[in-house]
Parts: sequence; structure tokens; C-alpha cells
Amino acid sequence: MSLKDQLDLQRLPRHIAIIMDGNGRWAKERGQDRLYGHHEGVESVRTIVEACAELGVEYLTLYAFSTENWDRPVYEVNGIMELLVNTIRKEVNTLTKNNIRLHVIGDMTMLPPHCCQELEEAMAITEHNTGLNLVMALSYSSRWEILRATKNIAKDVQAGKLKPDDITPDVWEQYLCTAKLPDPELMIRTSGECRISNFLLYQLAYAELYFTSTRWPDFRRENLYEAILNYQTRERRFGKTSEQIQQNEEIVS
Ligand code: IPE
Ligand code: IPE
Ligand code: MG
Repeated sequence: MSLKDQLDLQRLPRHIAIIMDGNGRWAKERGQDRLYGHHEGVESVRTIVEACAELGVEYLTLYAFSTENWDRPVYEVNGIMELLVNTIRKEVNTLTKNNIRLHVIGDMTMLPPHCCQELEEAMAITEHNTGLNLVMALSYSSRWEILRATKNIAKDVQAGKLKPDDITPDVWEQYLCTAKLPDPELMIRTSGECRISNFLLYQLAYAELYFTSTRWPDFRRENLYEAILNYQTRERRFGKTSEQIQQNEEIVS
């Protein structure tokens, strides 16, 4: 039986988040420039987006560029930004054809203006699509997001719009970039590093983490199915006991 056929489609994660790591090493291993790895990585993005849309995953968040990535050599940063603009331009029709809606989380003000414009247009064009929500994390980091949320909450309290005692978890979450998104159930990181690197620190509180040594440009459909299958073997307890979880499942079924 193929890996895809082994998936339990009733128990898919609603939201998968991916740290797409290893483009640079993939290129270097082939005696190529790092940018070559980023170009090849786009093919994996295309494939994984398509695979998630086909399976019926509702949200896919891809970490494409972090706040800290701005400190990379200028030529690499510029190359990634150009790649981003060209890819969005080329793919927007395919997104629409596949009923995919594009969202962006991160500090858009840091992006070059033409990049921002391209993204704004693509988000507007795909706004009414009802299939997969593709969330690109660009110029994003959790610490930036949490600081921004804190400042905005402080401003609202100062302006009398909000009382400190009214800051419940639900209210607090409205100040995050992910306000309208459910938390990811599965977080995948490629290329061997077992760290979070400032990605969705708050939202990943109870996510299942999956680390694979496969470099991002090599990560394709079968690798995704393998990650989801692994996720489906896990018992998600949320602080409860195994017995409680099993009792609950019996009641539901
Ligand atoms: C991930 O690949 C893409 C970005 C961070 C933009 P890397 O460029 O980090 O590749 P490695 O980790 O150096 O191999
Ligand atoms: C994380 O990868 C960010 C993205 C994939 C966009 P990095 O390559 O920047 O992370 P570190 O530096 O290895 O932690
Ligand atoms: Mg890296």
C-alpha cells in the first residue's frame, strides 16, 4: 500500500507548519551557489502546496524568511526577494485555479516595495478562494510578533479601549499575526536541525514536532505523507492522562 493510501483522511492535521530549511546546504553539496538551492526549493513549495490542497489540509504555513535572515549577505537576501516576486507573479493563477487563498504573516514593511505590492495583489486576487489557506511567513519571527502584540495591547489599554482584566487568551490571540488561524497540530522542520528558530513560539505550544534530515529541495510528496503518518501514530494528551484521552475517544466514536 502506498504511503498516501495509509493516511487516515479523517485524522489529518487541520494546520501544518513547515520550517523549510537546508536550501543552502543542498546547493553546496552540489558545488553550487546557495541561491541555486533557494530556486530548487520553490519546486518543493509548489509540490507540497498542491499535495496539501489535494488532501484537504485547511492551513499550511511555510516559514520562508525570518527576521534574522535579513542579516545574511546582501546578494542572498536580494536573490531571495527576487525569487519571491517572480514566484508569486508566476503562481498566482495556479493558486486561483486550485482555490487556494494566500495570506502573509510577518513585517511586510521590511520587504522591498515591489515585493509588498506583488504580495498584496496576490492576496487580493485569491481573497475569495475557499480551499487551502496558504500562509507565507515572511520577515517573520515570533519575538517580533509578540513584541508588536504587546505594544498594540498597551496602546489599546492607554486609549481606554481595553481593560487589563479583559485580556483573556482569546483577546490576546487577536493581537497576533495568526489571529484568524487555528494553531498548527503538526510542525515539520527539514534538514536535520532540531530547533524552532523563532517560529510560532506561542502557537506551537501543543504541536507535534517532526524533524527530518531531508533537505528542503528534496522534500516532496512522499516525505509529507511520511510526516503525516508519523503524526497519526502520536497520542495528543494536552496535559491529560492517556486513560482520559482513550475514554474520550470511546465516547466520541
Ligand atoms: C532555508 O534554507 C531558507 C531560508 C532560510 C531562507 P537555508 O538557506 O537556511 O539553508 P541552510 O540551512 O543554510 O542549508
Ligand atoms: C529558519 O531557518 C528560517 C527559515 C527557514 C525561513 P534558518 O536557517 O534561518 O535557521 P537557523 O539559523 O539555522 O536557526
Ligand atoms: Mg538554514
